Amino acid sequence: MEQVIERVLIDRRAIAGRVEEMAGQIAADFRAHAASNGEPPALVLVPIMTGSIIFLADLIRELPLMLRLNVISVNSYTGKATVGGELTISGNLPEDMSGAHVLIVDDILDSGRTLTAIRGMIAQRGVASVGTCVLLRKRIPSAMATPAEYVGFDIEDRFVVGYGLDYDGYYRNLPDVVTLKQEAMR
Ligand code: IMP
Ligand code: MG
Repeated sequence: MEQVIERVLIDRRAIAGRVEEMAGQIAADFRAHAASNGEPPALVLVPIMTGSIIFLADLIRELPLMLRLNVISVNSYTGKATVGGELTISGNLPEDMSGAHVLIVDDILDSGRTLTAIRGMIAQRGVASVGTCVLLRKRIPSAMATPAEYVGFDIEDRFVVGYGLDYDGYYRNLPDVVTLKQEAMR
C-alpha cells in the first residue's frame, strides 16, 4: 500500500501532538461553559462517519470529560470525486437535544457543505451550543468561510488520504496524512 504514497503531508507524531492540544482546548472551553452556567455538563459529540473514525478514537481518549457519542453518516458523493451530488444524512440524532453542548467531529473541511448542513440541523434541536471540530481544513475560500471552532491543520488544496480519509473507500488505515501518486487515482 505504501508504494502509492506521493508525499507525507502530516506524519503520525505531528497528528498525535496536535490532537492532544485540541483535546486540551476543548476540555478547557467546555469546563468554562459548564462552570459559568452551573448546569450539569452534557457534552455530545456528533462524529461524521466514516472519515472521522480514527480522529474521533484518538481525540476522545484525550478528553477527560463525561461525554456521549451520537454517530451519523453523511454521503456527499458516491464515487471518487468530492464535488456535486446530494447530501444523504443517516444516523440517530435525537429530535430533542435540549441543553446539550454539541461538538460535530469531522475529518476535513473542504467545500463546507457537509458541516453547514449538519450544524443547521443540530441548531434546530434546542441545543445549548453547537461547535465544529475538524482535523484538517483546506486553504480555500469556502472552507475558510465555514464556522469551525477547532481546526487541527490548515492544508493546501490537495486531495489527501490516511488517518481515516479515503480514496474510493481505501487508504483510511494509513497512519499519516498523505497525498497519492497520480497513478493511484483513476
Ligand atoms: P465538504 O466538501 O466540506 O462537504 O466535505 C465533504 C467530505 O468530503 C469530507 O467530510 C470528506 O469525507 C470528503 N473529502 C473532502 N476532501 C477530501 C480529501 O482531500 N480527501 C478525502 N476526503 C475528502
Ligand atoms: Mg466525511
